[in-house]
Amino acid sequence: MKTIVTTAYRPTAKILAEAEKIAVELEIPFIVRNKRSVERMHADEQADILVALNERLELYPMGKAEPFFFHPNSAAFRTKRPLASDPLIEISGLEEGDSFLDCTLGMASDAITVSQHVGPTGRIVGCESNPNIAYVIGKGLQRYNSMPHLTAAMKRIQVRAVDSIAYLNTLDEDSFDVIYMDPMFTEEIKEASNFSSIRSSAHRGQLTDEWMEAAKRAARKAVVLKAHFRSQDFEKFGFTRRVRPNTKFHYGVIKFT
Ligand SMILES: C[S@@+](CC[C@H](N)C(=O)[O-])C[C@H]1O[C@@H](n2cnc3c(N)ncnc32)[C@H](O)[C@@H]1O
Repeated sequence: MKTIVTTAYRPTAKILAEAEKIAVELEIPFIVRNKRSVERMHADEQADILVALNERLELYPMGKAEPFFFHPNSAAFRTKRPLASDPLIEISGLEEGDSFLDCTLGMASDAITVSQHVGPTGRIVGCESNPNIAYVIGKGLQRYNSMPHLTAAMKRIQVRAVDSIAYLNTLDEDSFDVIYMDPMFTEEIKEASNFSSIRSSAHRGQLTDEWMEAAKRAARKAVVLKAHFRSQDFEKFGFTRRVRPNTKFHYGVIKFT
């Protein structure tokens, strides 16, 4: 599916300039809105539509009336609780100053939570293979300012619009303290976030031997997996599973130190 970029219904000069910049950065066509509804534009352009607005960037996948946009989602409440007790941080053994590679960035809720925990001396890189998701989330992380306690942590996340296996293969051994994978669940679950509008465009690949070997080589302390509680991948790839009663997903870890 091709992607085009347009503006708000009544664009200001700033929004027009922003949309033109996005077109150049993503190498996609800029199409004048001409006061058309998103539904009308979907019919006319047969494309996913990025809409530049004053306050945020929205993506309307073809046929969807609800937009996908950046929001901290679960990071908003997880970062208000003691971070050392967050299940991802606890199982990873992440400490202040650690480096963390998120192989499946998605909405970046996990990456934001970890970024807040490791602090300014830490390093967070997030790979997202869907270029539209990577772009919307990357821009959102840089400009979202409604939760001041998270602004710095969000800005520190470096987004890479690449497949994580390709990225891992460029890394030296022990490049990151913790490497994390949260592939799309094969079973549909109800989501509290606006990810549902983009779900069908997300990369649905599951863990493979190649991915695991590359992750284990590049991780210094641990490789961590989040998956559906029915997933057999924990046992298949040698993770120690942390059972979380009454939750739809579990975490697993392979520790090296
Ligand atoms: C379940 S979501 C991750 C949610 C994320 N942990 C969060 O906190 O929002 C999975 C995301 O990873 C992306 N993805 C899946 N496999 C990938 C891969 N091999 N390389 C890069 N991105 C991948 C998908 O496109 C999707 O956006």
